Amino acid sequence: MQKKADYAEAIKTKYPEQLVIAVAKDKNGKANPITIGWSMIASGEPAMLAIALTPKRYTTAAIRHSKCFTVAYPSEDMAELALFFGTHSGRDTDKFAETGCKTSPADKIDSVIIDDAVANFECTLESEHTAGDHIIFVGKVVACHVNTKPKGRLYSVATNRVLGGVIKK
Ligand SMILES: Cc1cc2nc3c(=O)[nH]c(=O)nc-3n(C[C@H](O)[C@H](O)[C@H](O)COP(=O)(O)O)c2cc1C
Repeated sequence: MQKKADYAEAIKTKYPEQLVIAVAKDKNGKANPITIGWSMIASGEPAMLAIALTPKRYTTAAIRHSKCFTVAYPSEDMAELALFFGTHSGRDTDKFAETGCKTSPADKIDSVIIDDAVANFECTLESEHTAGDHIIFVGKVVACHVNTKPKGRLYSVATNRVLGGVIKK
């Protein structure tokens, strides 16, 4: 049985929501990470990933400038880092330098990968689409990396930016 609900109530049922960290270099060559809750696999063959950003994000300009971005899957022990990346702007912060988060150069694109992430996907910018108040960037996956140690992914587990792992049953 269903009852009518407003959008705010109904959408609260989406949790847990996977998190990704997207990284793009700005016009000065600084790699800037952003925490993203709104992301999806957009195509299987060729493989494409999509992320939704508001126009005002510093990362939006960085992706448009560099025409590529990394999508990293943060691990469940990266909650503090994901909150930092998701509450500070690359406009006035070097987020990797401030946090000491370790990165390595990407193989195929002008970006970096996050060493401790569960996985990293290097993407070239395929297209962008305006959807209401967000811009969906679609990236074609050109290289992938997975952590040599098994790790659980990080999720938003509830509203108000409660981050954590999801226990496998
Ligand atoms: C858990 C979490 C999820 C977020 N999801 C998104 C998102 O999907 N899209 C978006 O534009 N911003 C999202 N944000 C906000 C950005 O990460 C935040 O505004 C960030 O500081 C922008 O960085 P920038 O200015 O360097 O691009 C999220 C933040 C958090 C903490």
